[in-house]
Amino acid sequence: MINLAVFASGTGTNFDAIVKAIDDGKLDAKVVLMVCDKSNAKVIDKALKANIDTYVFDPKAFSSKMEYDNCIKLECQKRNVDLICLAGYMRIVSNVLLDAYPNRIINIHPSLLPAFKGKDAIKQAYMYGVKVMGVSIHYVNEDLDGGSIIAQKAFELNDMSFEQAESRIHEIEHELYPNTIKKIIEEDF
Ligand code: GAR
Repeated sequence: MINLAVFASGTGTNFDAIVKAIDDGKLDAKVVLMVCDKSNAKVIDKALKANIDTYVFDPKAFSSKMEYDNCIKLECQKRNVDLICLAGYMRIVSNVLLDAYPNRIINIHPSLLPAFKGKDAIKQAYMYGVKVMGVSIHYVNEDLDGGSIIAQKAFELNDMSFEQAESRIHEIEHELYPNTIKKIIEEDF
């Protein structure tokens, strides 16, 4: 059984999609830890309801990124985490975690990378006037939304409103992330 840790900072719909895929028998894995850097994030309730261990930390309580990443690393190692899935985790991961989990940290980003990195990627792309939008899943390295791409899915905007485009992005994410995790588990473990 592959042990997953999911890192999130916000609503946690991708976290939910991963948990649901496991519950539905579509993904042979276990979420053993949810890591969150925001004490008021909705994802915390979701993890508690799903009976999943949570590690919530306040980055300001640490003197450096290395220090809190080291605590996160220990929480992961304690639970024999095999693969870390960033799901709306809005922090750059340091070498402390990257070295402990080489090629074992992945991220989902709501754009067709390498375009529109960083925050508010859906809005960035829509406001730019692109004709095609999409979702990327990539290995995490020291660069923001960098690292080699594992999977992408695109769609044509045609005359979609921003809200329609946004909900299409999330719909794709909730399918693509569990499917990609499944593929990684089958191919790499
Ligand atoms: C998702 O759209 C995810 O792709 C994005 O944050 C959202 C989290 O939603 N991630 C990034 O922008 C990473 N740079 P969720 O909390 O409902 O899963």
